[in-house]
Amino acid sequence: MRRKLAAGNWKMNGDADLLDELATLTAGQGDDAPEILICPPYPFLAHAVALSDGSPVGVGAQDCHASASGAFTGDVSAPMIAEIGAQAVIVGHSERRQGHGESDADIRAKAEAVWAAGLTAILCIGESEEERLGNNTLDIIAAQLNASTPNGASADKLVIAYEPIWAIGTGRVPTLEQIIETHDMIRNELIERFGNEGAMISVLYGGSVKASNAAEIFTARNVDGALVGGASLKAADFQPIIDALQAS
Ligand code: PGA
Repeated sequence: MRRKLAAGNWKMNGDADLLDELATLTAGQGDDAPEILICPPYPFLAHAVALSDGSPVGVGAQDCHASASGAFTGDVSAPMIAEIGAQAVIVGHSERRQGHGESDADIRAKAEAVWAAGLTAILCIGESEEERLGNNTLDIIAAQLNASTPNGASADKLVIAYEPIWAIGTGRVPTLEQIIETHDMIRNELIERFGNEGAMISVLYGGSVKASNAAEIFTARNVDGALVGGASLKAADFQPIIDALQAS
């Protein structure tokens, strides 16, 4: 069975009060209980790890540098994130690709650094609106997936997040058919490249996921959870998404 994951990407939002609030999230019981992950900004990571002790909430970072250490003022390395007890790192979010000029090769190097530190990489891919309106969206996403993902991927160290850029923070979501088509393609690419392991790698959907659309999105056979931005900033918004994943 693939891991079900509800991951909250705080982006550059939140404070210590929000950490306290999100420590109250619950995941249910049993084999199909989803994993919960919150990814706050770096200054809150250590506090988040302390609060998550004994709760079902895991902690991840939103980015890392590809090197383990060095003269990189302002950057944070994957071993540092591992040392404070976090479990995962988001790499390749479109806000990093677009706002910080990160290429597929940069993201691949970051994912390798995350793995070398013993953490899970949540690797984001997704098309722009212009690309979606063109005829070769699936080819573009497949190329991005293949160029960003290092060799040797396995289900315990890689999660893919498909996030159409035009759906992030906009309240717009693809149709269920578009989500199904894209996630099926991603699954096929993963199986083609990584064999049985590719069948077990979780693939999240992200982009304007909220309580009102989560259950429908989770009906798609190759959607294993969600990467949630805005709706992860309040327990009252995030908990129903976790519950919908549990029920899926
Ligand atoms: P959103 O963001 O849920 O606010 O659309 C998702 C993301 O960027 O990961």
